[in-house]
Amino acid sequence: INYVGGAGSITAAQFLQRFIINKTPWAHLDIAGMAFSKKAANLNPRGATGFGVRLLNNLIKKYYEWNMLEKTLSIIKPDAIERNLEDKIQEILVKKGLAIKEKKKVKISKEEASEFYKVHQTKSFYDELCGYLSSGPIVVMVLEGENAVLNNREIMGATDPKKAAEGTIRKLYGLSIDKNSVHGSDSIQNAQKEIQFFFKQ
Ligand code: CMP
Repeated sequence: INYVGGAGSITAAQFLQRFIINKTPWAHLDIAGMAFSKKAANLNPRGATGFGVRLLNNLIKKYYEWNMLEKTLSIIKPDAIERNLEDKIQEILVKKGLAIKEKKKVKISKEEASEFYKVHQTKSFYDELCGYLSSGPIVVMVLEGENAVLNNREIMGATDPKKAAEGTIRKLYGLSIDKNSVHGSDSIQNAQKEIQFFFKQ
């Protein structure tokens, strides 16, 4: 890892050129090297290098947030909690590369469940669905990882356990289309809304 030299603004320009425009994967190593070798205490906070280091560190963090580590909401439903499957389900998720960033056990009211499942309000099963989610304790988790939304849905398997692939959570533990043990956000946009619903900042 080398400090590529130059004022921070020049290095920032090199980073943008190499890493973002040319998509050269090693460009960020130069930057990380610079950030390591130039400790904050040695930097003139008003100088171009100090500015560049902070800018690049923030860019790198954002790059990883946007491109690598996605978040999704996962719920272990009442049927699985009742059968003490909480640990087994978490183990599967972690083994498949999803990190559990937040977790809490809650019991929600039917009104809260109706709000959570609002996207399904026109469906024939809506009332039953809301009654079920509020029928007992649930574990809500924020999962993080590469392609977390899609990855989690693959790990869960098809909504109907009878149609779920071998090795998926719903195939292993789901009892019926209602009591299908887990819920997972179906898109990045819904994941953000669902995370916000349970883990208000
Ligand atoms: P979930 O991923 O939590 O999202 C909505 C839920 O509705 C779904 O899992 C199912 O448990 C439930 N559901 C009940 N009946 C149906 C149905 N006929 N089709 C799809 N989902 C259903």
